[in-house]
Amino acid sequence: MSKIALFGANGTIGSRVLDEALERGHEVTAVVRDPAKLTRTHPRLTVTTGDVLDPASVAAAAEGQDVLVSAVGGGDGPGHVATIEPSAKSLVAGLRKLGDAAPRLIAVGGAGSLRTPDGKQVWDAEGLPEFLLQIMHAHGDALDFYRTVSDVRWTNLSPAALIEPGERTGAYRTALDDLVADEDGGSRISAEDYAVALLDEVERPRHTGERFTVGY
Ligand SMILES: NC(=O)c1ccc[n+]([C@@H]2O[C@H](COP(=O)([O-])OP(=O)(O)OC[C@H]3O[C@@H](n4cnc5c(N)ncnc54)[C@H](OP(=O)(O)O)[C@@H]3O)[C@@H](O)[C@H]2O)c1
Repeated sequence: MSKIALFGANGTIGSRVLDEALERGHEVTAVVRDPAKLTRTHPRLTVTTGDVLDPASVAAAAEGQDVLVSAVGGGDGPGHVATIEPSAKSLVAGLRKLGDAAPRLIAVGGAGSLRTPDGKQVWDAEGLPEFLLQIMHAHGDALDFYRTVSDVRWTNLSPAALIEPGERTGAYRTALDDLVADEDGGSRISAEDYAVALLDEVERPRHTGERFTVGY
């Protein structure tokens, strides 16, 4: 059993991470801006208030935990873009306050920077809407930042190109910087199986200090 602090616990991805973590017997502290929005109750779930953009809040949430998970962002608006890279910097700054006692960090990333078989990256595809490009590049900037960090044990987990609520199959494939796609080029993962991969990394760390990605 691990002690996990989770930012974004009421989000599309974060709520699946919460369910998977509780299902596996972990103890979860959900760190949310508005506790009234998190209706889930469970004997091993504690809800606390915090803001991922405040390093002091991150440090308070992370203290005494084994793993800190961040699944923040969300929506199509500028608030989403404005959260991504600043949250990476705030998470690392908060963990640095705890020194050697800091837990590992697993942060939800983006698919945009993943390499495609034609030697390009997902964000090079034609016709992507501007708001999506901005989100993709914000995740790319966050990953570039993480890659400068050697004093915090971080992992960045990029979803497949398409992630949406669906079935928990328990089956998935991983790669490091290459998009995981099927034989037709489709790249997808359910939010439930993404959570399986993330909790597998919580329980058996294999990607500390690097980005990996998950798809079918
Ligand atoms: N294919 C891809 O690459 C792909 C696809 C989908 C998502 N993603 C990424 O995955 C992440 C999560 O996406 P999602 O769809 O699950 O988003 P979501 O459903 O909108 O959830 C976002 C969560 O972040 C929380 N949050 C936002 N700002 C916060 C702050 N300052 N402090 C604490 N919590 C904060 C929100 O809390 P509130 O409820 O309080 O607002 C919410 O729980 C995003 O970074 C997104 O870009 C990547």
